[in-house]
Amino acid sequence: MKAIITAIAATAMLAACQTTPQEPLRATAQLKPTKGNKAFGEATFEQVGDKVRVVVFVQGLRPGQEHGLHIHEGADCSGDAMGAKGHFNPHGKPHGRPDGPDRHAGDLPALKANKAGRANVQIDVGGITLDSGPASIIGRGLIVHADPDDYRTQPTGNAGGRIACGVIQAG
Ligand code: CU
Ligand code: ZN
Repeated sequence: MKAIITAIAATAMLAACQTTPQEPLRATAQLKPTKGNKAFGEATFEQVGDKVRVVVFVQGLRPGQEHGLHIHEGADCSGDAMGAKGHFNPHGKPHGRPDGPDRHAGDLPALKANKAGRANVQIDVGGITLDSGPASIIGRGLIVHADPDDYRTQPTGNAGGRIACGVIQAG
């Protein structure tokens, strides 16, 4: 009898696993240099409540330089990565500071390169998700720019060329 109950319980648990993910939603992006550039790095994304924890490491940057960082709508990182289109903006907002009320969902804090040309950012971002909804960032492009983001100029932040790009992929 006990064995049967255990078997039923195991079947029920298996069914629960198949319908409800037990692992937190995660994604990664490998940042590769665009044509003529040399910055590279990686990013991880993890769903934490209603926000996504974004952790980005980049190296090969000009020492001391600040670089705009955004999630873009498209995922074409070829050539100069212009095929990745504009900033991801599912909520129809203006470009702005990542900690402000008016921002593209894809607006992230700038990377600040140290003396060794390395930079990192960690932030919990609202307005984006890792699920399959309209605000999902899966299959979109993460882009590092040549210049700082002024958080004012519409709709780009005037952050210059695209020096590194990676596609955000689940898992
Ligand atoms: Cu950008
Ligand atoms: Zn923006």
